[in-house]
Amino acid sequence: MNYHVMTLFPEMIEQGLSTSILGRARDKGLISFEAVNIRDYSGDLKHHKVDDYTYGGGAGMLMQAQPIYDCFKAIEKKINEKNCSDRADDINDSAENADKSTEKPLRVIYVTPQGAVFNQQMAADFAKEEDLIFLCGHYEGVDERVLEEIVTDYVSIGDYVLTGGELPAMVMIDAISRLVPGVLNNDESAMTESFGNGLLEYPQYSRPEEWMGKKVPAILLSGDHKKVDEWRLEQSLLRTKDRRPELYEKWLIDNPPKPEKKKRRRKKSDSADSVND
Ligand code: ADE
Repeated sequence: MNYHVMTLFPEMIEQGLSTSILGRARDKGLISFEAVNIRDYSGDLKHHKVDDYTYGGGAGMLMQAQPIYDCFKAIEKKINEKNCSDRADDINDSAENADKSTEKPLRVIYVTPQGAVFNQQMAADFAKEEDLIFLCGHYEGVDERVLEEIVTDYVSIGDYVLTGGELPAMVMIDAISRLVPGVLNNDESAMTESFGNGLLEYPQYSRPEEWMGKKVPAILLSGDHKKVDEWRLEQSLLRTKDRRPELYEKWLIDNPPKPEKKKRRRKKSDSADSVND
């Protein structure tokens, strides 16, 4: 997975994504990030301006179309060249394929409070892509014309407004990356996590068995795996019902109670009695 982030603050992206699990995944070559500075594509060679006043009035400045469009075209070109050379390597036929562009349209995600609210399902969908381009807005927003031209997905991280798109982009990149094969080690990926089954995760406990007078639920010490699983599902359901009732309602619809198996009527010849007949 290769992330390309169009931003006015590339250092934020570089620093935010280089530690812990994502840093390790990057070192292993499982994911890559490039933070591309939109300002480098400003047509204003003297002041490198990227914003201007809004037509029709209104407070604040708007990010202009041209620097964003040129930044996007540079990223698109780089991706196409990389894909062509990969393909040429694969079939050892560079001349024929060198100027073919990618067949699949690139996903360009504009992070905006006006987008669809990000969720686990969207993370799983984005994780299937080889390249993802993020556009991080600032100021009062972005000239609509460039959005119409390049954006494929409008995505928000929630119904509140942040000062810019970098944090939302990093939130999405984190959620998507942990679904890329190999990014989580076995222990991490084996974790039963919230949303994996449409429910919130059950409560968990570690040593000691008693802390501040609170005991670990006895069932977890019983060694009875079936009972532990049943308890965990029950706790997940209770927790989801309490904290996220809308998720609980959805789970009930998606998981209707299984119809009770009809008991097979025993033929007379099957009956224990008949054996002795
Ligand atoms: N930019 C500012 N606020 C945002 C939000 N809530 N989600 C995505 N992008 C944003």
